[in-house]
Amino acid sequence: MQIVAANFKMHKTRKETIEYLKELKKIDFGSVKVAVFPPFTALFEDELIGAQNAYPEINGAFTGEIGLEQLSEFNIKRVLIGHSERRHIIGESQEFIAKKFDFYKKHNFEIFYCIGEPLDIRKQGLKAVVEYLKTQFVGIDLNYDKLIIAYEPVWAIGTGVSASLEEIRETHSEIRKFTSRPILYGGSVKLHNIKDILEIENVDGVLVGSASLDVEVFKEMIKIAKDEK
Ligand code: 13P
Repeated sequence: MQIVAANFKMHKTRKETIEYLKELKKIDFGSVKVAVFPPFTALFEDELIGAQNAYPEINGAFTGEIGLEQLSEFNIKRVLIGHSERRHIIGESQEFIAKKFDFYKKHNFEIFYCIGEPLDIRKQGLKAVVEYLKTQFVGIDLNYDKLIIAYEPVWAIGTGVSASLEEIRETHSEIRKFTSRPILYGGSVKLHNIKDILEIENVDGVLVGSASLDVEVFKEMIKIAKDEK
């Protein structure tokens, strides 16, 4: 089974997201698991929707955050944790990320857990990459049965240059040594490279950023994934 997920980041309004999902659902997903992560203001009840982030509390004095209570209003049971933009731009620590993981695991959420190394680490080679990724596994239950890992090298995100097929292959096979859960690749996944990426061993799907913003492109990606293993 393939997993194809869209991370809108800070794009699209509620109205646009509603229209997007309506259009998306015109196609048959077959056995492909599809997930869509819109911004908080566009959350609503729909089995495809997950939150891009959430605070590890039910509710409380955490200005600017949303917690379990707000997600539950829309029956949302899927969350993305540890995206590199939150790690590196917002400054979330591994300790805090692990707290989120624990909390939403306790509440039985499906967790898309993002990991990935910056360019200076990649330049040092695969061994350094694996050591780095291990630091992102600290405090994370890699056997959680609702865990989906997303390997997203920081240098490939939003750059238009994805990791090479060989880099993806060798990195996913290293990650596989730590978990039997699905491992997605993310970072400049486009219509022209998705098929080759999905064919790599230990790649169980993709997490798509900018290319997913066009619903026609995302539909096409799902169709390609339907034809894969
Ligand atoms: P791009 O597909 O825009 O590189 O973004 C990837 C990503 O960060 C998905 O979470």
